[in-house]
Amino acid sequence: MAEYVLTATKNNARAGSFYDRIEGLYDLTFKLNGYGRSLDQYFEAHHLPVFPGASVLDAGCGTGTLTLALLRNLKVPVKLTAIDLSASSMATAKKYVDKSNSSQQPVRFAQGNVLALPFADEAFDLVLTSGVLEYLPLDEGLSELARVIAPGGHLLHLPMRPTPITTLLEMLFRFKTHPPHEVAETTDRYFQVVSHYRFPRFQAISWSKSAVLAQKFYVGSADVPSGLAGQ
Ligand SMILES: C[S@@+](CC[C@H](N)C(=O)[O-])C[C@H]1O[C@@H](n2cnc3c(N)ncnc32)[C@H](O)[C@@H]1O
Repeated sequence: MAEYVLTATKNNARAGSFYDRIEGLYDLTFKLNGYGRSLDQYFEAHHLPVFPGASVLDAGCGTGTLTLALLRNLKVPVKLTAIDLSASSMATAKKYVDKSNSSQQPVRFAQGNVLALPFADEAFDLVLTSGVLEYLPLDEGLSELARVIAPGGHLLHLPMRPTPITTLLEMLFRFKTHPPHEVAETTDRYFQVVSHYRFPRFQAISWSKSAVLAQKFYVGSADVPSGLAGQ
């Protein structure tokens, strides 16, 4: 069994992250499996909950596949930030963005730890994250993402789901898939799920991921789910 790489704790992120060594392999694997095209189809079918000037964060952008898909599909200008632990992954993402960002939408890149985001509370209207929380304790990761999302703002999370293909990917990329019931329960602690999307079976991404769009509670408002009211 491959070692599970816990990339960081809240107070300590490893210098020279695992992804600084393997970003080339990761980038190639996810180019070959059509991840970017599947994301395009998701964004075409699902209206992104953003407005002009919204603050958007790609938390754990890696080599930028999700960042680029977002840029291709944005209909309004936003303030986009992409963060990752791995400097070399971010350099690759930045190179791709500089090359193909036809909308000229500026992207601010920053090196940082998803467990200790260098942003103020409620700084973002939308946070996207894919393939990152599987390297971290789930509750700590989701609570930190919730901290930086404004009430009523959204999280688009693409959790890994347990399948034989995922087991292979776990060995290759040394992550640990969180059990789906834990993802659902932990998400419900901070957010209200808006939709849970299963990619079409013929798309390779469907063999390992799904997409959950969730909205952060308006604290104290009628939108707090009844089960949590008064807690
Ligand atoms: C599987 S890749 C996913 C990249 C990208 N989100 C995508 O969908 O293609 C995982 C990324 O998470 C980053 N990562 C892992 N732990 C992190 C942490 N604690 N803080 C920030 N980034 C982290 C890694 O450096 C790597 O780039």
